[in-house]
Amino acid sequence: METLDSPRSRRGALARLALVVAVLTGCGRSEERPGPGDDARPRRRAPAATGGAGEPIRPIEPVTDLDPRRVSLGARLFVDPRVSGDAKVACVDCHLFDKGGSDGKPTPLVGARPPGIVNSPSVFNLAYDYRYGWGAKFATLEDQHDANIKNPLTMATTWEDAAARLRADATYARSFEEAYRSGLTPDNLRDALISYELSLTTPNARFDRFLRGDASAIDDRARQGYALFKSYGCVSCHQGVNVGGNLMERFGVMRDYFAARGHVSDADDGHFAATHDERDRHVFRVPSLRNVALTAPYFHDGSAATLPDAIGVMARYQLGRTLEPDDVARIVAFLETLTGDQPTPPARP
Ligand code: HEC
Ligand code: HEC
Repeated sequence: METLDSPRSRRGALARLALVVAVLTGCGRSEERPGPGDDARPRRRAPAATGGAGEPIRPIEPVTDLDPRRVSLGARLFVDPRVSGDAKVACVDCHLFDKGGSDGKPTPLVGARPPGIVNSPSVFNLAYDYRYGWGAKFATLEDQHDANIKNPLTMATTWEDAAARLRADATYARSFEEAYRSGLTPDNLRDALISYELSLTTPNARFDRFLRGDASAIDDRARQGYALFKSYGCVSCHQGVNVGGNLMERFGVMRDYFAARGHVSDADDGHFAATHDERDRHVFRVPSLRNVALTAPYFHDGSAATLPDAIGVMARYQLGRTLEPDDVARIVAFLETLTGDQPTPPARP
């Protein structure tokens, strides 16, 4: 077990300190990376935040520049199993609306699919994540969707085959023609799904009302929890509009999480899977903590059943400390204020 005094963890601690300083001075690493406001994707520019000036967390704004016809097509596709290769699995089977857009299981277990190997993450507030997948493999939602449609553990098909299956349904063909000049093409199928997912924002969390000046929106315990979240340094990684989603970090900065957990597999590669650079092994996108009270169990391996469990692991492996139970409870109270208005689930066919 690595101790806090080893040279490597001291470097980690210094890096951590530098990051805290960077965040507090507004020049964090996140700014070096392309964000949702990329010039390449102007249609998906994340709206400018209002409120929370001077705070490392900013309120969520709904994404407004979406075509409503494309959004409603995407809503139908999201719950339609005909999108998948065997017409048995829909997106909504692993991204549930009563679980903050995740599935409530350590790793996916859907009848018609082999068991999954990583936890199903939320599909809410995607406009505010700078890359996608636990290991931040995908720079765009398009790339993420291209991998997902082919993945034998999820959709197990191709856009071409899915488009052909759906073309047999005259109502889809007609709706696509209304929404897209070129009608029901593989690219437009992907675009409709993405348009819909980008509409799934969760604004108006108690914490956002607090950031906008309503001091009574959160209670004393949550306020103390937020202060601890900042002073312990959680905020050096979890910050910005999504309270995460805008940088990558090693899971196990201060101690070796994977050695302690055991049974290490490809599912733990993290960003290494994208770069094959050893330095990226076990490096993950810092996940958003928006709606985190609804998305248990936690981590890419689904190993933490509750928020106190997850906070204990974070404190130990990312910050090299053990927190008092009462501090953990106050941080939980703060995290619970990040639950925003949940999107209405689309009607199942
Ligand atoms: C069998 C379960 C399952 C199904 C079905 C499924 N997903 Fe997922 N989804 C996952 C898992 C697991 C991940 C994480 C994969 C990873 O990071 O390696 C994921 C990741 C994602 C992400 C990235 C989220 C992020 O925060 O980076 C998006 C977006 C997404 N899925 C959308 C969809 C859409 C759209 C569909 C339907 C076309 C779908 N998913 C179907 C399990 C599923
Ligand atoms: C060095 C950066 C870093 C610090 C500091 C940090 N985290 Fe994390 N956090 C991460 C990463 C990376 C993950 C994803 C780990 C994984 O799943 O593989 C994560 C995951 C989480 C999760 C699980 C989210 C989910 O959807 O599964 C919670 C909750 C969390 N962190 C809370 C905290 C709290 C509270 C603190 C402070 C005590 C903290 N984090 C400090 C980087 C950090």
